[in-house]
Amino acid sequence: MAYETILVEQRDAVTLITLNRPQALNALNSQVLVDLGAAFAAFDADPSQHCAVLTGSEKAFAAGADIKEMADKLAADFFLEDFFSGWQSKVVATRKPWIAAVAGFALGGGCELAMMADFIIAADTARFGQPEIKLAVAPGMGGSQRLTRAVGKAKAMDMCLTGRMMDAQEAERSGLVARIVPAADLLDDALKTAAAIASMPPMAAMVNKEMVNIAFETGLAQGLLTERRLFQILSATDDRKEGMAAFIEKRPGVWKGR
Ligand code: HXC
Repeated sequence: MAYETILVEQRDAVTLITLNRPQALNALNSQVLVDLGAAFAAFDADPSQHCAVLTGSEKAFAAGADIKEMADKLAADFFLEDFFSGWQSKVVATRKPWIAAVAGFALGGGCELAMMADFIIAADTARFGQPEIKLAVAPGMGGSQRLTRAVGKAKAMDMCLTGRMMDAQEAERSGLVARIVPAADLLDDALKTAAAIASMPPMAAMVNKEMVNIAFETGLAQGLLTERRLFQILSATDDRKEGMAAFIEKRPGVWKGR
């Protein structure tokens, strides 16, 4: 499939998606949403693909929602289009694991898109921020919610109210990113990590992802119950029998994906 604003390639079982609007620092316009929605849906539906990496350029993962596209919209347009809801329903709906590999600016919608990933690997050049307040607006794609859950109220308030950027070190210290790597190694590291995830039993990978996400959306008792039930369901797979047999027989497991 041809995309206008992203590049998509398959490397064995890993799908690499690269935001490709360098002239606008990968600002997220409606075409990016259309393209990403289709690319993530295709990744999720392709039985040969088991993990994805979303990345940007050396200078910017994404510098936010496209301000030029939004500038002339009226409040009624935002409301009637339910602007930004597509990002949640299309990108977040992905059931297979995916990683955001972030170098340079991840601002506004760019930071919010990175936070939709299962986890973020940051280059040492990465800078995160929710500068919407400077445009007299506020986050619209989860920034006030996911950032607060990731880094806590104090840091989230500081970021949203001042619009300041957080560097990679602060982001790692605060729990926003899983780890930092030198910028030159970012893609290699993210692809290797994705390949490691892609080599896991696929249903187990999907269930592990689902379980951790449930922790963000439910209370402890309900979360623990859901975790036990999902564990029990997973125990019914052929791959579970194979995984335990392979351990006992001291050999690598061979996965059926069911
Ligand atoms: C549209 C953008 C853009 C954006 C950058 N560009 N960010 N276009 N939307 N979010 C464009 C610039 O206009 C410029 O195009 C080109 O990309 C290069 O950007 P420069 O500003 O020249 O680069 P630099 O001086 O290096 O500064 C980088 C930057 C700055 C610090 C990242 O571009 C910046 O502050 N961008 C906006 C960041 C932001 O406010 N993001 C939040 C957006 S709101 P030209 O054609 O001039 O060369 C959001 C959610 C909103 O995400 C929710 C509202 C409901």
